[in-house]
This record gives sequence, structure tokens and C-alpha cells, in this order.
Amino acid sequence: MKFIHLTDIHVTDPGATLFGQSPNLTLERCIDDIGRAHSDADLCVITGDLTHNGTGSEYMAARGILDRLGPRKLMLIGNHDQRGPALDHLSELVADNNGFLQQAIQTEAGVFVLMDTKTEGTNAGSYCPARQDWLAQILQEHHDQPVWLFMHHPPFDTGLPAMDQIAMAPQDADAIARLAIEHGDARHLFFGHFHRPMSGTWKGIPFSSHRSMMIQCALDFEKAGEVSGIFEEPQYAVVTINQNMTRIHYHDFDSSAARLSMGEPEH
Ligand SMILES: [Fe+2]
Repeated sequence: MKFIHLTDIHVTDPGATLFGQSPNLTLERCIDDIGRAHSDADLCVITGDLTHNGTGSEYMAARGILDRLGPRKLMLIGNHDQRGPALDHLSELVADNNGFLQQAIQTEAGVFVLMDTKTEGTNAGSYCPARQDWLAQILQEHHDQPVWLFMHHPPFDTGLPAMDQIAMAPQDADAIARLAIEHGDARHLFFGHFHRPMSGTWKGIPFSSHRSMMIQCALDFEKAGEVSGIFEEPQYAVVTINQNMTRIHYHDFDSSAARLSMGEPEH
């Protein structure tokens, strides 16, 4: 199967800009590019920060733009989102018994687990015992097939001090790791929040993320406090899963880099 990973689309009110740019227009160009090159994708998963301010009007704008996206859409919320307005306007979101916007979706590659790591009142992430109980139940129900984890906040240190100040609470991250390891077949963790490409493994679980539709996070291993931004190109990821591998390509769809023929490859 093939799906598109989008993250941190930060939709604003129509006509509004952030740092001099329009995330809405960037998202529209992204959707155009996906439509041209990946109309065969089975799904598109958006890992949070669906809007910038979490208002009803922003979710209405997001609805209008995302309706142009061809593949079936799966989504979860980030620290910039607000559960109430998001639920009112985006029918893809579902609340669990405790009001957290998380759900499990059966796909041909296994179960996609869409998690809610938002914490009210802070940009940092959390995954409280109520959410952990939900995850434990989902993983138990699907003990016999692969699971794929999707969440906004990375559950580990990224190495960038400014971002790690708004990461997930360590004890909650440990709980997620314990449950995923107990399950025994967590294939990959896709996250957002970081606004830059990153991949690796965490406690044996491969992970990845990439750039947003908004300003990006600069690679700064020194600076704490204020997050350093940088005007790097936005990206989406093309994920292909088959029995033998998970393959992820990153595409700078807005790049003006010229293409050229490099000639026939020499064998
Ligand atoms: Fe974001």
C-alpha cells in the first residue's frame, strides 16, 4: 500500500499569513502536486497542527482545502489544535470515551493508531493514564497484526533543546514505549511537531518526520528557549509498505530547483 504523510499544515483564516507566508496556499500547492503525482495513494495521514489557532473559522478553511485532497484522509491533532472546534468541522476525527481524539483504522498493512498527545494550556505533549488505557486496549485487540503509530509530539529527545522543551512528558513516552514493545509488532512511528526531517529508531521502533506547510525549525543543537525558524522548503512524504520493507521518500514539492537529464546510467 502507499500513503502520503503530511504534517503541521497550520491552516489559517483565508488571506491570513504567518511569517509572511500563507500555509493555506502552500497546502493547496501540495495537494495539487499529490494529485498530479500520487493519485494512486490509498491514504493521506496528517499528524497534527491541522490549524494554527484552533478556531472554528480555521477548521472551516481546512475543510474546504482538504476536500480537494484525493486519497482518504486520516488525521490527528497537535498542540495548535482545539478539540471542540476540530471535532465540529472535521468529520474524520473521532472522540474516544474520554473525549480524546484518537482512533484505530484498519488498513491492508495493519492497524494505523492515531493518537492524541495534546495537553491543554501548553505546547508540550502528554499521554495520560486514560489515553494509555485506550492504547493498551487497542494494541490488545490487534495483538495479531502489525500496528503503525501516528502522533503529533515525538516521544523522545530530538537533540534540539528548544524543541525538547515542548516534547512529550518522559513518563508518558515511557508508557507508550512499554505498550508498543509489549505488542511486539509496532512497525513505525510517524510524528509531527518538529517541522524538519528526522528519522531513526526509538527503543527498536523506526520513526520519521519531515517539514511542515509553515515555517520550518532550524537545525540548532545549542539554542534553548525560543525556537529558531528557517525558510526551508515544505515537504510531504510518500510511504510505501510491502511485506519486506517500509520505504519513505521526501518531496520538496515547492522547490524551484531545475531538473535536467543526467544521461543514460552506466552499468
Ligand atoms: Fe506545528
